[in-house]
Amino acid sequence: MGPRQRRIPDPPSCAPRVETDRLAATSSTGPAGPIEEVAITTGLKPASWSYAEQYVAEDEVLSAARGRASDLPAVPISPGGGATLRFAAAMLDAKNVVEIGTGCGISGVWLMRGMRDDGVLTSVDLEAEHQRLAKTAFMEAGFASQRVRLIPGAALEVVPRLTGGHYDMVFCDGDKQEYPQYLEQALRLLRTGGVVAFDNSLWHDRVADPSVRDADTTAIRETLRLVTEHESLLEVLLPVGDGLLLAQKR
Ligand SMILES: C[S@@+](CC[C@H](N)C(=O)[O-])C[C@H]1O[C@@H](n2cnc3c(N)ncnc32)[C@H](O)[C@@H]1O
Repeated sequence: MGPRQRRIPDPPSCAPRVETDRLAATSSTGPAGPIEEVAITTGLKPASWSYAEQYVAEDEVLSAARGRASDLPAVPISPGGGATLRFAAAMLDAKNVVEIGTGCGISGVWLMRGMRDDGVLTSVDLEAEHQRLAKTAFMEAGFASQRVRLIPGAALEVVPRLTGGHYDMVFCDGDKQEYPQYLEQALRLLRTGGVVAFDNSLWHDRVADPSVRDADTTAIRETLRLVTEHESLLEVLLPVGDGLLLAQKR
């Protein structure tokens, strides 16, 4: 195919119509370097995105936790993103999971609901107040207190002290500018076959817009590039919520 190209697959006959649009072959830069520009759109309407987000409904425990988070700088993962985390944790039969950015516990409850019954979530956050509210959510969800290890502190001080190769999953939702370092830590923490996930990987539509170059957006783009280029990672970027990047350590 000459210079790297995104190939447009033929849609299966049962798939919704996929609109594709070949633009002038100007070069642009994707996460892994220059690519020939080919726009692919799904043709889905916003109503379908909302429908998919709400397909797995949240219960009263999660609604109450969202209510507690609403006035705090701890924006929770979307319902679709949470359902994806739960699904991944269940697929991995996860026993040990690390979360960076506890917030008020919404992602933690989703993760715990996918993990094994004897699974332990280790969750790190700078803000003790956020973790206090998260504790309420975990209690209301009925999880035994010994199943959640809440560690207050800065991620890059706490996480390097956790045991390497011991974890099935690492979920990153802390400081966006630290995402490249979280990736490095996740590669150390995960067992072979384990999965790292990054929320906000499309960052309010900024990641896809090359004219946006603020520090958060640039760090997320850098993380996407590092993941794509890493030989032992198998990745997928899901347009769920604000974007959820998942990568398995092979
Ligand atoms: C987006 S919120 C997390 C939301 C949570 N994952 C959820 O879905 O409910 C980000 C959290 O990361 C925490 N945080 C920000 N920078 C951090 C850092 N350097 N180390 C640890 N936690 C951090 C914030 O205090 C905040 O609670």
